[in-house]
Amino acid sequence: MAAGTGHSPVLSLQGMHKRYGGVHALRSADLTISAPGVVHILLGENGSGKSTLLGILSGQTRPDQGTMTLGGREVRFSSPVDALAQGIAMVSQETAVAPELSVAENVLLGRGLVRRRLGLSWGRTERRARAVLDRLELDCDPRARVAELRPDQRQMVEIARALSSEARILILDEPTSSLTDDEVEALFRVVRQLKREGVAVIFVSHRLPEVFAIGDEVTVLRDGATVAAGPIDGFDEGLLVEAMVGADSAYGREAAPRSPARHDGTALTVRGMRVAGAVRDVDLEVGRGEIVGVSGLVGAGRSEMLEAIFGARPIVAGTLTVGGESFRPSSPRHSIERGLGFLPPDRKGQGLVLGLSVQTNLTMVQTIGRSRAAIPRPEAEWRRVAGICERMQLRMASPRLPVGSLSGGNQQKIALAKWLLRDPGLLLLDEPTRGVDVAAKAEIHAHLKAIAAGGVGMLVSSSENEELIELCDRILVMSRGRIVASLSQDEATEAKLVSSAGGHV
Ligand SMILES: Nc1ncnc2c1ncn2[C@@H]1O[C@H](COP(=O)(O)OP(=O)(O)OP(=O)(O)O)[C@@H](O)[C@H]1O
Ligand SMILES: [Mg+2]
Repeated sequence: MAAGTGHSPVLSLQGMHKRYGGVHALRSADLTISAPGVVHILLGENGSGKSTLLGILSGQTRPDQGTMTLGGREVRFSSPVDALAQGIAMVSQETAVAPELSVAENVLLGRGLVRRRLGLSWGRTERRARAVLDRLELDCDPRARVAELRPDQRQMVEIARALSSEARILILDEPTSSLTDDEVEALFRVVRQLKREGVAVIFVSHRLPEVFAIGDEVTVLRDGATVAAGPIDGFDEGLLVEAMVGADSAYGREAAPRSPARHDGTALTVRGMRVAGAVRDVDLEVGRGEIVGVSGLVGAGRSEMLEAIFGARPIVAGTLTVGGESFRPSSPRHSIERGLGFLPPDRKGQGLVLGLSVQTNLTMVQTIGRSRAAIPRPEAEWRRVAGICERMQLRMASPRLPVGSLSGGNQQKIALAKWLLRDPGLLLLDEPTRGVDVAAKAEIHAHLKAIAAGGVGMLVSSSENEELIELCDRILVMSRGRIVASLSQDEATEAKLVSSAGGHV
């Protein structure tokens, strides 16, 4: 492998340009990895061009202009297979494992399956997969079906797959956006192991503290151009944020201090709720105007609880009220009619229809349970949509574009905006700001608080305790399907939340 020999950088991308119709995704983006075994952080606001640049580097996207050198030699990739052959592997923003296949099959998918004359040799396939898993020090049965794994384990399987081809540069596009703190630590152990082996890692994240924990050097993109780059030691959080948002941005405006609005009555009560295999003996209350957080490890039952309240998962026992009246969730449609909104954690699967336009996605739930006369006129609707989009710093060339063409963070904002337009009485939000950049996240939090102040109740699950502490009036901690603690905003600290969740090992 020629990469990293002599004095030339391992990798250098220069002057990359890419347009999609009227959208300038990249205009003069550069990125240089100085040495083997370096962790290179790629930062930028939602839509700034990170995934596009990484798509070029991994052979998925053809640039309109720009050059790429590997170990000083100019290269051009015609496909991901081509890039992989030259030692560049990518784990993309959305996980792409085949859930029905085994771990071994996923790890070796498309390249390493050991063939014999009459089919595959499962014994040897498994041994090869095991070797890759061992290298990453992953304790995971090669024969297990990927569908049975936790999300963090699935991600490790993806990384193992990327490495099964002896990659010298591994690209991780937002690997931590759906991981809890403990899982992030496990991922970092793997990254450090790769560093020792001389594998360079390009790492995208919107969480600045972890950027400093793992990064050696950094590149910052703004509006498709590189605006800052260099060793991470030369930056602090303030400098990075300023590079990302630009000096003239409104970011950093004092968020309005939240005076818990007093509203009579409850938005939601739950008594003795049980959900098969996931939730037991849950009692909780969300007042009108109150934001209640739900913390806990992955698998604690947070998502299942929200789904059940929304009528997307059967409730075995228990009683509920919504807006003070008895409520028996029977289907999502019924819940929407009763004034509930639900943002699922997985925007691709349940939250959005990627092939349809932004406009259609945003207005899809507006018609449910409303008489024709009550459905807002499109023009009036669009003024509100424009207002919400502006507050969330949603970037798109046109609302007629398919949602699938937006950047990951901007898709998330659409998934959330869709419910805000409906004026719900109770919002159930699972990972509301997954993949959203720091500036837009602060805006979304401020916006949610303003909506709550108008009398809406919210139940918010997040794997980021920091987010819950910032946003919520009260935080419930779940562990193994039960609520094990309830902390007011004043009492809640990350340490207390983690120790009540039983996450300390
Ligand atoms: N296939 C496509 N068709 C049209 N526009 C696209 C396409 N892919 C990307 N874009 C646009 O290019 C711009 C950059 O998107 P990109 O996905 O690279 O952003 P990003 O920095 O990865 O953002 P995020 O942090 O939200 O993931 C966005 O405006 C996006 O809508
Ligand atoms: Mg992206």
